[in-house]
Amino acid sequence: MQKILVTGGCGFIGSHTIVDLLNNGYDVISIDDNSRSSNFSIAGIEQITGKKIKNYKVDLKNFDETQAVFQENTDIAGVIHFAAYKAVGESVGAPLLYFENNLFSLINLLKCVEEFSVPNFVFSSSCTVYGNPDAIPVTELSPIKQAESPYGATKQMGEEMLQAFTKNGKCNVILLRYFNPVGAHPTAILGELPIGRPQNLVPAITQTAIGKLPKMKVFGNDYPTRDGSCVRDYIHVCDIAHAHTLAIQYLEQGKNESHCDVFNLGTGLGVTVLEAIKTFEEQSGVSLNYEIAERRPGDVIAIYANNDAAVNKLGWKIEYDLKDMMRTAWAWELKIKAQEEAAINN
Ligand code: WQD
Repeated sequence: MQKILVTGGCGFIGSHTIVDLLNNGYDVISIDDNSRSSNFSIAGIEQITGKKIKNYKVDLKNFDETQAVFQENTDIAGVIHFAAYKAVGESVGAPLLYFENNLFSLINLLKCVEEFSVPNFVFSSSCTVYGNPDAIPVTELSPIKQAESPYGATKQMGEEMLQAFTKNGKCNVILLRYFNPVGAHPTAILGELPIGRPQNLVPAITQTAIGKLPKMKVFGNDYPTRDGSCVRDYIHVCDIAHAHTLAIQYLEQGKNESHCDVFNLGTGLGVTVLEAIKTFEEQSGVSLNYEIAERRPGDVIAIYANNDAAVNKLGWKIEYDLKDMMRTAWAWELKIKAQEEAAINN
């Protein structure tokens, strides 16, 4: 059974990916320092899959501790690297925090990949690397634009580091550029656990709908789009997760066309903020309390994916539509509330 190391395995996409890997016959270990996640996810993974996994509570910026994990697991057949800070707004206010964490972690990890001859590496990248695209949908060959934030810059630099690292051919890499990952596992045992006030649209919607937030803001309705609000490509977290399993299999089967192949992970459908809200209201039966507010600095007007490469080369099939995304996100929010109430009553 091939062993895969998932960094950031307690996080939103990491935990869902571990479930998919386990369900596809892989052995998995995780490295997560839980600075922005909780071991609660590990219990959720075990509840869904019935399989135990070990999380090493290690900060990847600590080389010795990271190296020790590889020394204890010399049979790692592949690494999937999620562990990174990812709040666009926060990164603008704290660029050095983002460059230090996201880049030092990657460098330490690659030193271990090289030292222990790990053959395959999948990197969590983002559509952010495209900036404000000149043409949509974007393909993997669309120009990489000036990053809109230090967060986006760390994804661009990470990709460049990996391109250079694989030049020696010692390791094969896949860059997965996510569009907007949303939703939750259909069992409602795993989902997104934003820390503090949610920055992203869907958790802001569900927390407003459940009453955790009094009202939410739609950041601008005067954009040159069909209803004035920004366009994004929302993609279910379980579809994103399965793409990682397919990426590992693609590398194991030697199907890669270069030492560093790139794939967009989006549905290929552009959805406006107001359309997303409307779909949520239809799926939840809740009328959302929101107001139109000023544009948010750094927001891209419109972006969505051309996903032909992932569909045709990885064999990726999208299973969840926007209704599923909103329905599962809402079921997860209801589950969190029920657990919080049970904790208070016990
Ligand atoms: C989506 C749309 C907002 C909140 C970022 C990163 C990307 C990925 C996902 C990590 C925008 C609008 C949002 C709210 C709103 N990060 N919005 N009210 O900015 O497209 O992407 O997060 O994986 O790499 O760049 O996602 O969900 O923050 O915003 O109107 O309360 O929703 O203005 O138009 P974004 P988002």
